[in-house]
Amino acid sequence: MRKREKGQGTREKGKALAFTAGAFVLCGFTLCLHGHDRITTKVTWDREIAPIFEARCVNCHQPGGKSTIPLATYQQARPWAVAIKEEVLTRRMPKWNAARGYGAFANDPSLAPFEIALVAAWVDGGAPENEKNKALPQTFIVKPAIFTAPAPSSVRTISTSCEEQRANGTLLAIRPALDRNGSAGIAVVRPNGHQEIVAWIRGYDPDNATTYWLRNPVVLSRGSRIHVDASGTCAMQLFFARK
Ligand code: HEC
Repeated sequence: MRKREKGQGTREKGKALAFTAGAFVLCGFTLCLHGHDRITTKVTWDREIAPIFEARCVNCHQPGGKSTIPLATYQQARPWAVAIKEEVLTRRMPKWNAARGYGAFANDPSLAPFEIALVAAWVDGGAPENEKNKALPQTFIVKPAIFTAPAPSSVRTISTSCEEQRANGTLLAIRPALDRNGSAGIAVVRPNGHQEIVAWIRGYDPDNATTYWLRNPVVLSRGSRIHVDASGTCAMQLFFARK
């Protein structure tokens, strides 16, 4: 795990120095002594960033969560600003082990491109908490939706191996159990032989096992099969709609 921002690399320090020097040249020694604290963005923690983090990060980043780094408040998140930007831009955070472009999931926590841009702009602009003396215009708050799974009583769950097998009904979700860092491509094979990839899970993390709820449930007519290509040990739960 990386150290907090205070210990950031020499490259960042170099940039900060260059910036401070530039600020001196631009505005003289007295006015801009705190050049590195200068806020150059209107994106604030209170208005844009906190609602995104609340919906997408805080379930893991709070005491008792999967990460040891709490990110629930401004004071907790601010020292991590540079790391946050990097994790979000590279899409390492929020953690999600389904490969993009293979299937679509109702509980995919990935940030939308606009949300990623907001986080980057916030960090680049000095990571302000709020705009001083300005009340929050509530209408600006973009709160990402939080997924709720269907009631257990409406779901039929089958625990199964990853052998190719017949399946019929409305497939709602899959939950693979693989070796650490394992991968599995999961496809449905129609009676006419046509294959559709439902999900491709890679870099599997047993500590972060996930049920992948399909954005569009797949209706499997009689004679359909489920085919899995897995890298090693593989078991699976299949979730079907109860009729
Ligand atoms: C499913 C749980 C989970 C979610 C959701 C999640 N994280 Fe993390 N995050 C982790 C874990 C686990 C680590 C590893 C560090 C640790 O052990 O505390 C981590 C590490 C980090 C780090 C430190 C990286 C470093 O420099 O080492 C940052 C920054 C971070 N997450 C930001 C975020 C942000 C921002 C979000 C939301 C957009 C987010 N995370 C969502 C689990 C999660």
